[in-house]
Amino acid sequence: MKGAQELTKKIRGLAREKNAIILAHNYQIPEVQDLADLTGDSLALSIQASKTDAEIIVFCGVHFMAEAASIVCPDKKVIIPVKDAGCVMADMLTAEQLRQFKGRHPGVPVVTYVNSTAEVKAESGICCTSANAIQVVKWTKSPEVIMTPDRNLAAWVRRHTDQTVYSWDGYCPIHDELTVEAVKRAMAEHPDAVLMAHPECPESVLELAHVVRSTSGMLKYARESDHREYIVATETGLLHPLKKQNPGKKFYPASQDMVCKDMKKTGLKEILSALEREEPVVKVTEEIRVKAYKAVERMMEVPRD
Ligand code: 13P
Ligand code: SF4
Repeated sequence: MKGAQELTKKIRGLAREKNAIILAHNYQIPEVQDLADLTGDSLALSIQASKTDAEIIVFCGVHFMAEAASIVCPDKKVIIPVKDAGCVMADMLTAEQLRQFKGRHPGVPVVTYVNSTAEVKAESGICCTSANAIQVVKWTKSPEVIMTPDRNLAAWVRRHTDQTVYSWDGYCPIHDELTVEAVKRAMAEHPDAVLMAHPECPESVLELAHVVRSTSGMLKYARESDHREYIVATETGLLHPLKKQNPGKKFYPASQDMVCKDMKKTGLKEILSALEREEPVVKVTEEIRVKAYKAVERMMEVPRD
């Protein structure tokens, strides 16, 4: 524990010295979340990245999130402490595959989930996150839309709009492998609990959910609700802030298997080393960045609930 405290102190001191801000996604390990200047879901972190005065952004998350920060802050140095912390779903769609998919639906607007590479964003009309996907698709006012790369998020949106949604067949294995049986088991063990689920879960699981939200949406719901018990159908890292923010409430994972290995690669040692060396740097080429930025910028214009 002493080691962790010392490392935290060193990192905080160095971050101050270098005018660096540390952002951490809600799935990061507890020590990293507790150390960060800001924690949040993908949307909140993109917005924070666009507003910061810091010269360096240390992004504790996965590669597409650091890329998103580089897209909105081209003049800042964006560092990802572990270079190969990636997102399996983002890697399920390449820009070339998207070009071919668009070719099969000419003229149909493309709504791309932020869990995607910068090249894929650059091929898209507008981005969305799990927090605003339904609003973004409705905002296009197009009778047909293409949604990439997550088929489960697309199915969730389809249920909430009259628009035709053509989806790419990507998915997050951590959420997609959650079964109805596992969820029903958890519900039988905790009959008074509210089931909160992330829209990356399969449709069959979302049908059972009382609340479907992004990670920060779940945090907000738990803070504001009078319910005392919750089953949480998303990556287990979210249990840390849920418990921390709601000491009197109980939170149970829908399945202990919901662990994203890439989100767990970043530790305090990696952050300190990255901050000392100021690398690995994530930098999107200007040609891709300008196109991807348009898609992210459009998303920021969509009114939020
Ligand atoms: P959120 O944007 O809801 O935090 O989700 C990001 C993610 O990677 C989900 O698996
Ligand atoms: Fe990607 Fe899934 Fe990990 Fe989120 S939990 S970063 S979608 S692999």
